[in-house]
Amino acid sequence: MLSLGQLSVLHKFKGILFSTASSRELLDSLDSFDAREDDVFLVSYPKSGTHWVAEVIENIPNAKITITSPIELGDISKFDELKTYSKRRVIPTHLSYDMLPVDIKQKQCKVIYIIRNPKDTAVSLFHYYRDNPNLPYIETWAEFLELFLRGDVVYGSWFDHVLSWEEHKNDNVLIIFYEEMKKDFFKSLKKITTFLDMHVNDSEINNIAWKTSFSEMKNNTVKESHDPNHTICALTSERNLVFRKGVVGDWINYFTSKQKRVFDELFTEKMKHSELARRLKE
Ligand code: A3P
Repeated sequence: MLSLGQLSVLHKFKGILFSTASSRELLDSLDSFDAREDDVFLVSYPKSGTHWVAEVIENIPNAKITITSPIELGDISKFDELKTYSKRRVIPTHLSYDMLPVDIKQKQCKVIYIIRNPKDTAVSLFHYYRDNPNLPYIETWAEFLELFLRGDVVYGSWFDHVLSWEEHKNDNVLIIFYEEMKKDFFKSLKKITTFLDMHVNDSEINNIAWKTSFSEMKNNTVKESHDPNHTICALTSERNLVFRKGVVGDWINYFTSKQKRVFDELFTEKMKHSELARRLKE
C-alpha cells in the first residue's frame, strides 16, 4: 500500500486523482474557462503520445497556432494570458469528457483524442511514476498495475476516460491511435491536417516525420526542457521524462501471463460496447 507521505503528492477531485500541479482551485475554476470557436483541444489519457502529436501539429508549415497548456499547468493566471493570443490556440489536456470546461462543449471546439493500447500506456505510466518526483514512487510493477486497474492513478481509470470520449466521438472529435501513427504516419498526419483544415505536401510530410521521430524529439529535449511553451503536461515540466522507448508492445516485457489474463478480462468487461476497443485489437 502507498504510504501517507506518498499519497500527499496527489489529491482527489470529483473522485479522480490529480497531482498537486492541478490544484483544487484550478479544477474548481475550469467552468469559467473561455473557449474560442477555433480552439483545438488535444486530449489524451496520460502517456498516450500527447507530446508527439503536439510536436506534429507544431511542425505543420503555416499552421499559425500557439500550443499552450493552461489547464494542465495549474496556473490560473494563464487563463487570462490565453486571451491575449492572436493565433489559433492548441490546448493539450488529460481531462475526461465529463470534466472538460463547459464552454468548450458549447462552442463545439475541435478535439483530437489520442488513444494508445492500455497495456503499453500502463507500462509507460508506471515508469513515469517512478521517474517523476511529483508522483508517488511505486515499488513494483505488480503494485502499480493494481492501482491502474482500479483507476487509482492520476486522471483516473483508462477505461472510463476512453469511454467518456468515445461516447462523444461524433461531437467534432478526431480519434488518433498511437499505434497507427507508428505504423502509417502519413495516414495519421493527413487525418490531422484534414480535420484542422490545414494542408501539407509530401515533402512537408517527410520533413515533419523526420522532425517528430522519437529519436529526434528525444535528442531535442535538452535544449527545449526549459522552454515553458514546450511543457504540455501537468505532471512534470521535465521533458526528458517523456521520452522513454516510444515503441508498440513493450507491455510484453512486464505483464505475467496471469496479469495479462486479469487485464484482458477487465478490458472485455469494461469495453464490451466499445468500437474503439475493437480497433485497438486490430
Ligand atoms: P513510452 O514510455 O512507452 O516510451 P505523453 O506525451 O502522452 O506523455 O506520452 C509519452 C509516451 O509517448 C512515451 O511512451 C514516449 O516515449 C512516447 N513518445 C513520445 N514521443 C514519441 C515519438 N516521437 N514517437 C513515438 N513515441 C513517442
